[in-house]
Amino acid sequence: MLRLLERIGRGTATAVAALGALLALGAAETGAQGKPPAPLHLEGSAAPMPWARYKGWNKATWDTYNTLAQRDLTKPAGKEIEIKGSIDGDAKKGKDLSFSRARGGGCLSCHVMGPETLELPGNVGPDLSEIGKQGRTDQWLYNYVYDPRVYNAESSMPPWGAHGLYTEAEIRDIVAFLKSLATPATYKNALDDPTKRPLPVEDRDGLDPFVNPAAERIDPGEKLFAAVGRAGKACATCHGDAKKTFAEWANTMPRWEPRLKRMLGVEEFVYRHARATTGESYLMQSAENTDLSVFLRFVVHGKATRVDTTSAEAKASLERARVLSTVKVGQLNFACVDCHTPEKGALKWIRGQYLGEPKGQITHFPNWRTSRNEVWDIRKRLQWCNVQVRANELPPDAPEYADLEFYLTVASQGMPWEAPNIRH
Ligand code: HEC
Ligand code: HEC
Ligand code: HEC
Repeated sequence: MLRLLERIGRGTATAVAALGALLALGAAETGAQGKPPAPLHLEGSAAPMPWARYKGWNKATWDTYNTLAQRDLTKPAGKEIEIKGSIDGDAKKGKDLSFSRARGGGCLSCHVMGPETLELPGNVGPDLSEIGKQGRTDQWLYNYVYDPRVYNAESSMPPWGAHGLYTEAEIRDIVAFLKSLATPATYKNALDDPTKRPLPVEDRDGLDPFVNPAAERIDPGEKLFAAVGRAGKACATCHGDAKKTFAEWANTMPRWEPRLKRMLGVEEFVYRHARATTGESYLMQSAENTDLSVFLRFVVHGKATRVDTTSAEAKASLERARVLSTVKVGQLNFACVDCHTPEKGALKWIRGQYLGEPKGQITHFPNWRTSRNEVWDIRKRLQWCNVQVRANELPPDAPEYADLEFYLTVASQGMPWEAPNIRH
């Protein structure tokens, strides 16, 4: 504090940054263990604004469907549609539509559909191989595909008709195909049977840069920690050796930040604290932010996750996250729980991808995604899980993601941090 005052007294250009830090200090309550709370730049967004989706991602927007922040956009389900007489669509066309991945991923993402089922079907939904002889009415089949919410408000299946993924005529063709299904599936390759497919095992050495390109980011992160910023100081000037000073820090994040009134994760902290101290602007998702965050995670490698779950704010955040995890978003109308709780999709296959449950999902972030050739922090993963279900993503510093990050971290409480790591 005294040093900051001296700096302001000198009236240098850096005093502006120092003043910002001082104000932030003044506004805050005293931190844990009697330490002053970390100076934070509290104004504005920690992400580039206006937020624009990443290059190479689906460019579409889905403005008429719920997002995690705006939850009253999706129209509720209509009434059951009455079908007079029997449906006689084109079963061949229906099969092609069901098997194609073009729109919404296709039915085989979640269902096995008879002996002609293509490679690597999923099993989030029931095996439909014999649905044609199970006494379903045409009206049931039509409505289930058009909008399953008519029968099951919490259905994990998208409302294919109501959300415009297939036309009514196409759904008639799909129903004709479903009615033709009467023979159990047989698999040419044992891998194709989702009930027998071996579970993915991740045993690569995440810290070996020859194996994991994300490990190449540890050194640049350490160099940034030692680099003098525009305010004349480096992280190391005030903190010394991060391996000692922060040997128990990143594993205690996210944490409630009273000045921002939200859960603060490592990446958002790096931006707001660097702005207030070194004067550097490492916006979330920038290379520098990722490098420093990878480094701060690396120094807690092997340490147990231990976030505070006892405070009233932590409990309130968990409750918000619990609700968020059940909000149906996007054109495909999915909630996190549809894919990530064992009662629903988790521990099953969605096409060739095995869906994880919340426990153990976060302790390997940031990680290298081999399918995207990039390092992803947890916020980018959450954005991807939104865009994949055709929901507009939120900026990475959105408080909704912060609550979900906290929730995922609590689910891994006690587990060792293993970042940086590598995943498909
Ligand atoms: C994301 C996974 C998912 C996808 C993709 C999916 N379904 Fe489903 N489907 C389910 C689940 C789960 C159920 C059962 C429980 C429910 O509604 O959540 C189900 C149930 C059904 C049923 C009712 C079965 C019965 O016993 O009456 C039919 C019919 C059906 N799906 C057809 C389809 C068709 C046709 C497609 C492709 C257009 C499709 N599904 C795509 C997950 C999926
Ligand atoms: C001008 C001095 C100064 C600089 C430069 C500085 N910090 Fe800090 N930092 C502080 C103070 C003061 C605190 C709060 C007291 C404490 O935890 O030691 C703090 C706290 C922290 C904490 C713990 C936060 C908490 O709430 O427990 C981390 C992590 C941290 N700093 C990382 C960094 C990083 C990374 C940089 C470089 C971008 C950096 N600091 C630059 C002064 C500084
Ligand atoms: C349509 C299904 C689907 C929905 C809905 C979905 N995800 Fe995912 N998610 C996936 C798939 C597929 C993966 C990659 C496989 C895996 O690791 O589970 C994944 C991966 C993840 C991971 C990384 C897991 C790891 O071990 O690397 C996290 C964390 C995650 N999802 C959180 C969420 C949250 C939070 C939500 C809700 C906002 C959500 N997901 C919604 C399908 C989904």
